[in-house]
Amino acid sequence: MSTPLLRTLPEWQALARHWRALRGSTLKQLFDAYPQRGARLTAEGAGLYLDYSKNLVTGETIRLLAELARARGVFARRDAMFHGDRINATEKRAVLHVALRAPRTECILVDGKDVVPEVHAVLDRMAAFSDKVRSGEWLGHSGKPMRNVISIGIGGSDLGPVMAYEALKHFSRRDMTFRFVSNVDPTDLAEATRDLDAGETLFIVCSKTFTTLETLTNARAARDWSVQQLGGDETVVARHFVAVSTNAAEVEKFGIDTANMFGFWDWVGGRYSMDSAIGLSTMLAIGPESFREMLAGFHAMDEHFRNAPAEHNLPLLMGLLAVWYNNFFGAQTVAVLPYAQYLKRFPAYLQQLTMESNGKHVTLDGERVDCATGPIYWGEPGTNGQHSFYQLIHQGTRLIPCDCIGFMHPLDPLGHQHDLLMANLIAQTEALAFGKTADQVRAEGTPDWLVPHRVCDGNRPTNTILADQLTPRTLGTLVALYEHSVFTQGAIWNIDSFDQWGVELGKQLARKVVPELQTPGTPKLDHDDSTNTLIRRYRAAQGSIQ
Ligand code: F6P
Repeated sequence: MSTPLLRTLPEWQALARHWRALRGSTLKQLFDAYPQRGARLTAEGAGLYLDYSKNLVTGETIRLLAELARARGVFARRDAMFHGDRINATEKRAVLHVALRAPRTECILVDGKDVVPEVHAVLDRMAAFSDKVRSGEWLGHSGKPMRNVISIGIGGSDLGPVMAYEALKHFSRRDMTFRFVSNVDPTDLAEATRDLDAGETLFIVCSKTFTTLETLTNARAARDWSVQQLGGDETVVARHFVAVSTNAAEVEKFGIDTANMFGFWDWVGGRYSMDSAIGLSTMLAIGPESFREMLAGFHAMDEHFRNAPAEHNLPLLMGLLAVWYNNFFGAQTVAVLPYAQYLKRFPAYLQQLTMESNGKHVTLDGERVDCATGPIYWGEPGTNGQHSFYQLIHQGTRLIPCDCIGFMHPLDPLGHQHDLLMANLIAQTEALAFGKTADQVRAEGTPDWLVPHRVCDGNRPTNTILADQLTPRTLGTLVALYEHSVFTQGAIWNIDSFDQWGVELGKQLARKVVPELQTPGTPKLDHDDSTNTLIRRYRAAQGSIQ
């Protein structure tokens, strides 16, 4: 029996009625009506504090959203995920990134087999390898220790590692260089290698499938560079290349000994893999102990998501609030604004996590959805964004809910700068919520003609997420917070948050176009007129005969 469409549910209709009654209320009115809401509409878990009081909600909204989650089977689906059921229906796979951070003592069965021992066996191999590289015991082809690590991958095999490296730079080995190559644009690899000694450079080729065009092309070019720089001998690969993949056969075909391969499993989605062996560069940078602390942070949030009651459950609340704005207020985007420069790649990381997961147009039953699914996630660190796009959030015509992320203690104390940073975070949430009325503007002596330009309506909703400090553990909890928020949203929309069929079409067409750019002569082109013209124009620029 197929699941009913969302808008037909009585719980949805109750929310729609509630929204109609609430939509005229301002945040100022909501705060006046319930002066303690700043302290009450909050939740804490796994070391994170969420203030969701500056949202266009009341306690009743949260109760109704939780009812919707119950009616939609979000909790049963969550438990099925933790249980190893094949909830990725279109690929018939379990979705078990939570197993990647399960303690050794846990047992999680996939097809009757406990996967936790395998997870820890890989982690132990990664740790042994990392220790060897970090201590200088692992020597390259010319007998030198590794000082440079270049991770090659794309999408989920890149965004997590880059983000984690940047986020945890404070904890990283400063005497080693870490770089990341993802784009098939040759510039990416050229820039990453141009000033490095190949004799001191280790490549990690990260690809779940080990068939991805960009990654394999870059890996071949990197191999050529190493071989050429180190005397033309193919044996360099054994000392300078390791692989992270689920596909041992392709790794071997590439020429990497599977003894130098770190595996993971088809039940880990690419965008959920930064805590698997895909995080090898992270472990090399921060060391095995800190990597395990990061895993403990992920696990703490997993446990919170699994056990905390709905009204206190951070990822559930964030997921439900995202649904609330997306579907009732018609908000098309969510801005993620980390007040931490180390998190500069966090919004980019979240873009794949959220949009590849929930950019879906049919339900699990293959029916067209009856309401909008995944919002667009974007953002930049504060305070930089304040001097750029915040204007549109404050006074533009769109409603853009924001997640503001801040920390109580800086990693790099410098005078009172951290106070300034946090003052800005707090002030922005206040300004967005309460704005500035015409009377307030006038009282400042503003001439009448200028008043409308200076009025800020307020009512711009924000979540404030606070943690003590940006440590490896905190990063784990933050990432898991968003993973489970994405899960919650996908479960409400009854979509498959774990496949990505749409990405395939572009890949297929690119495979077709490549020979059309390269074949000598005049290839027969059967695309639309725009595509044919672009191909001909490119060929002409290469000097090809048309
Ligand atoms: O872009 C689509 C995608 O399949 C992502 O989901 C994945 O993270 C990325 O490509 C890389 O895939 P792979 O790890 O197999 O190289």
